[in-house]
Amino acid sequence: MQADATRYRIDPARPPHVIVTETMNAALRTEPQVAIARHLVKQAPGALLVPERVTVRACLLDPAAELTPPVWPGQPVPPLRRDRIELGTVFELSRATIVAWHGIDGATLPAAAITVPPALAPRYAARLMTRIDAFGPHRLDGYESSLNLPQRLPGRPVLGGGERLVFDYRLGSEPGLACRVARPSA
Ligand SMILES: C[S@@+](CC[C@H](N)C(=O)[O-])C[C@H]1O[C@@H](n2cnc3c(N)ncnc32)[C@H](O)[C@@H]1O
Repeated sequence: MQADATRYRIDPARPPHVIVTETMNAALRTEPQVAIARHLVKQAPGALLVPERVTVRACLLDPAAELTPPVWPGQPVPPLRRDRIELGTVFELSRATIVAWHGIDGATLPAAAITVPPALAPRYAARLMTRIDAFGPHRLDGYESSLNLPQRLPGRPVLGGGERLVFDYRLGSEPGLACRVARPSA
């Protein structure tokens, strides 16, 4: 059977034990993972959700320190020393957040606001990182798949340090996080 999973009606007499959906892109943009998980979990609250959690967090990183540089054959591989500053979780998709969104009928879902540290060193770039907890210990995180590659912030704001980044999640045909920059007061 084929159906639009954002509209599919579950037979209440035969609720599923497990809901599995992999309809996502990095940082939960473009594809309808959020809308599908939300629509199906609402109808079958007792079902296990796989992935059980998708977390998008923000960090500052030095892109030059993210990957091991090319090494000549026979030469030692230098240790990878990533240079990151974690800024916190921006958005989470899980049973808990779906329950928390109960009653929200509009086209946006709440996401977090984060503050960029003041006096930002120029080597740092802001990125969104996606972690997928499939189930229990089974997860995908940084660089383990295309879904876990660092992503630029929506709108690609230029940051100098001290800004407040206010996120929300837009549903609809082009879903994804949106980011508004509240400039630091002088
Ligand atoms: C990222 S791909 C995942 C494919 C699958 N995990 C695999 O490895 O073959 C997302 C899939 O979800 C389907 N899809 C997107 N929106 C959908 C919707 N509203 N209802 C049902 N399927 C949808 C797309 O057609 C695509 O095949």
